[in-house]
Amino acid sequence: MNRKVTVVGGAGNVGATVARSIAEQELADVVIVDIADQKAAGVALDMLETCPIIGSDSRVIGGSDYAQTADSDVVVITSGVPRKPGMSRDDLLNVNFGIMKAVTEQVIKYSPNCIIVPVANPLDAMCQAVFRLSRFPRERIIGMAGVLDSARMRTFMAMETGVSVENIHAFVLGGHGDTMVPLPRYSTIAGIPMPDYPYFKKNPERIAAICKRTAEGGAEITKLVGTSAWYAPGAAAAEMVECILKDKKKILPCSVYLQGEYGIRDLFVGVPVKLGARGIEEIIEITLTADENAALQKSAGAVKELVDVIGV
Ligand code: NAI
Ligand code: 2OP
Repeated sequence: MNRKVTVVGGAGNVGATVARSIAEQELADVVIVDIADQKAAGVALDMLETCPIIGSDSRVIGGSDYAQTADSDVVVITSGVPRKPGMSRDDLLNVNFGIMKAVTEQVIKYSPNCIIVPVANPLDAMCQAVFRLSRFPRERIIGMAGVLDSARMRTFMAMETGVSVENIHAFVLGGHGDTMVPLPRYSTIAGIPMPDYPYFKKNPERIAAICKRTAEGGAEITKLVGTSAWYAPGAAAAEMVECILKDKKKILPCSVYLQGEYGIRDLFVGVPVKLGARGIEEIIEITLTADENAALQKSAGAVKELVDVIGV
């Protein structure tokens, strides 16, 4: 492979899922870096040994040494503590900020031109931390949350309507927390806006129920499993990496540094962006109703409170 993706925290649940997806799709060589050195080496070897079975020539290596990450095209950062039942993402703020500081320094030392996809929580604040610490241009720091939250909403829409997930698109904006903003008007079933789709016209109360379940989607899994989700988060980050490496220019909801878009300045918040080889290629501004905009501003306010605590 002539492309290289590093996953920091790759011996953990989300990181290993991202790494595996990238290797399986033969998108790039993969470097798994983790403070758990032996585990990273073992997880990487296990993944490498799956490659003959699935027919992938991606090389997968692992350990704690950042030298092996040199000149990565994309670095996904999943290193961080996950939440346990009853915890909010915000409870992870200080400990994960400490981890981000250590990790970012090493990432930029060895891959000064990479695109960074932060994943650790609280997501938007961690993106802002990586942005400030790395001093990278905003185009190259793109947080993963909206792809996951939208996938959850798509799942629930498909479950209720019995329509293929392939026919369903959903948009969830805002910070990756309890205040996230699912947008039914921009969520569609075969191009039909959710409120106009026959099932939801007959059962309009299900729209609010799906939005609520989406916003609580992370807590739902955490309660069931005892730790936070990893399959869907891993797949979501891998979709972003694929989009960047293949220069696909998909429009995906991602956490990006806003500089006046949506009336928000100097803050990472989830909005639709065009994702390609250069990272963020365009921030798409959609028209919001007064209520939608109020919800987005409230969500941005919640992110701002967190970034102020860690001073980034
Ligand atoms: P995990 O505990 O399974 O994995 C975390 C890994 O990070 C561990 O292998 C650990 O050894 C490693 N690590 C810790 N400190 C490190 C350091 N200084 N350098 C390198 N590696 C280090 O946790 P999981 O479930 O993979 O979650 C990871 C993070 O992703 C959590 O903060 C979680 O809240 C977040 N998350 C975010 C989502 C999103 O939508 N943005 C979705 C799911 C999880
Ligand atoms: C999730 O939404 C915890 O952010 C993680 O599953």
